Amino acid sequence: MSALESILKETRSFDPSDDFRRKAAISGMEAYNVLCEEADDHYLSFWGDLAREVISWKKPFSRVLDDSNAPFFKWFDDGIMNVSHNCIDRHLPLNANKIAIIFEADDGEVTRLTYAELYQRVCQFANGLKAQGIKKGDRVVIYMPMVVEAIVAMQACARIGAIHSVVFGGFSAGAVRDRIQDAGAVAVITANEGLRGGKTVPLKATVDEALTMEGCETVRNVIVYQRTNSGANWVEGRDIWWHKLTEGQSEHCEPEWMNAEDPLFILYTSGSTGKPKGIQHSSAGYLLGAANSFRWVFDYKPNDVFWCTADVGWITGHSYVCYGPLANGATQIIFEGIPTYPDAGRFWRMIEKHKVTTFYTAPTAIRSLIKLGGDLPKQYDLSSLRLLGTVGEPINPEAWMWYYEVVGGGRCPIVDTWWQTETGSAMIAPLPGAVPTKPGSCTLPLPGIIADIVDESGAQVEPGRGGFLVIKKPFPSLVRTIWNDPDRFKKTYFPEEFNGQYYLAGDSANRDENGYFWIMGRIDDVLNVSGHRLGTMEIESALVANPLVAEAAVVGKPHDVKGEAVVAFVVLKGARPEGEEAKKLAAELKSWVAHEIGKIAQPDDIRFGENLPKTRSGKIMRRLLRSIAKGEEITQDVSTLENPQILEQLQQGL
Ligand code: WT7
Repeated sequence: MSALESILKETRSFDPSDDFRRKAAISGMEAYNVLCEEADDHYLSFWGDLAREVISWKKPFSRVLDDSNAPFFKWFDDGIMNVSHNCIDRHLPLNANKIAIIFEADDGEVTRLTYAELYQRVCQFANGLKAQGIKKGDRVVIYMPMVVEAIVAMQACARIGAIHSVVFGGFSAGAVRDRIQDAGAVAVITANEGLRGGKTVPLKATVDEALTMEGCETVRNVIVYQRTNSGANWVEGRDIWWHKLTEGQSEHCEPEWMNAEDPLFILYTSGSTGKPKGIQHSSAGYLLGAANSFRWVFDYKPNDVFWCTADVGWITGHSYVCYGPLANGATQIIFEGIPTYPDAGRFWRMIEKHKVTTFYTAPTAIRSLIKLGGDLPKQYDLSSLRLLGTVGEPINPEAWMWYYEVVGGGRCPIVDTWWQTETGSAMIAPLPGAVPTKPGSCTLPLPGIIADIVDESGAQVEPGRGGFLVIKKPFPSLVRTIWNDPDRFKKTYFPEEFNGQYYLAGDSANRDENGYFWIMGRIDDVLNVSGHRLGTMEIESALVANPLVAEAAVVGKPHDVKGEAVVAFVVLKGARPEGEEAKKLAAELKSWVAHEIGKIAQPDDIRFGENLPKTRSGKIMRRLLRSIAKGEEITQDVSTLENPQILEQLQQGL
């Protein structure tokens, strides 16, 4: 049974235990409904009250929402605050000695950092950045491993009002260059090397390579954190070690007081067309979303030990590692390594060792750990856990049940959180002390989030009928614009077809009789590989950039661990290769893509043809390619195909 079929047949429902419900801040369905009604009846004061409660303001705002230039919404726009001040300084009077971060390195070494220590490190580094002339509004690329310094760098940028753009450490030099260029970054913060699974990751070398490419002339400095003992290639006058930058800097740094709408960061994500888009988030609205959803969805308690396994290179690592937990004064784990090193028990051993209470990870990680040792969690004491979470893609009910029973001991609610880089924070997810869960459903929208499923005309569809997932009212943590491309922002997210009023998420979804949402997947040409968004166009562009390649089309096919796998159909400039030659070229093209974009985009499967199947007007028949990729029988009408023989070629594996 496919994941989709099993989701549609799912009928199980799980209530939170009496004990969990009793202790929860939002307890029982009635409490949830009251919040939803309040948001429905008084939308603006609902968000205004939350903004006053959750955020510390230097100067309070006088207006909640300015929608005079929709869809370029402004929230709390005359309020003054600073995100780093909210994440660190305000905890110092009562919680200076509370642990903010428990860092576990790749090799297992553990370091703990209090809020007071985090404050000192962020201030010193912020002062160092200022000494390099980096100031409010400047863009700074952060290309770091998962170490404490990644958080320090982000927080320091927020403190001085510089706009960070974190680039995932697995991305290639070309991807780093594209992001530097689009944002016009003045500096790059990196490490000499990263450490993952006992192997080194050459971060500084990749930055060096990026900076030799065209378009990076704006970069004045590269700040290098020394993670390993090996040195680094050095460009005098441009490169500076992190420890030199902070040497002698004051441990205090007055935050730059920011307007609520000043951009906090840009994070690039894939869309259907062209280059990745720079999703631009605000300061106050974004922080409100991250901080408030953190306390609601994870039913946050001050003595929790929270662990989100996401890398800071993704939005999950922004909202539920860097900003949400710190804004709440939480204690959290930062993990440098990978779930399978030194063995597949790593996560479970860490949960036992650090007495983790709340664990948030991706379905793909869950599926791979089931595969590597479904019984392994039983060898560890996981009794500290009280809540589990998932994010990134639909979770198949089998994996959900394993997570629930084997990891959670049947006692921990699972919060399946649907959201996106663009929404900044969780949108559809259970409040765990209130909303009963169903395996495979992200359940109900959070109070204040007016989600719905509509057809092409924007009209609501009946339960059980699939449609487009939309959010009908603006909310504080919504993307403000696409960096440098407001037209694309408008066209992509508020298209005229949907009356220009609704935020179009780009997912298809279904709703059951209880109003529960079931996400079916993307409606655009975006793949979800291991919870990561990849544009098929991006991979195609990378392939045709290879001198051997004439044409390429990329589609996804279901994969039992990654969710989706990348399949590329390739036409070479020369003759169609066969046998060993084809195998060799396929391997070459795979590493080419890994080098052009990053390993996550590397095709799993490459098929060569003399041509691609096209309609008479020259459009590639993608649906046909999807069937071929899945190995399905072809039922589509292929009568318009010029050369049906190529189907046979493309069906051949290597
Ligand atoms: C896309 C967003 C949100 C952080 C990680 C991904 C898919 C995300 C779920 C979920 C089903 C999900 C959607 C969405 N997605 N969470 N709980 N159930 N699908 O952020 O890279 O911006 O990707 O991920 O398709 O549109 P992202």
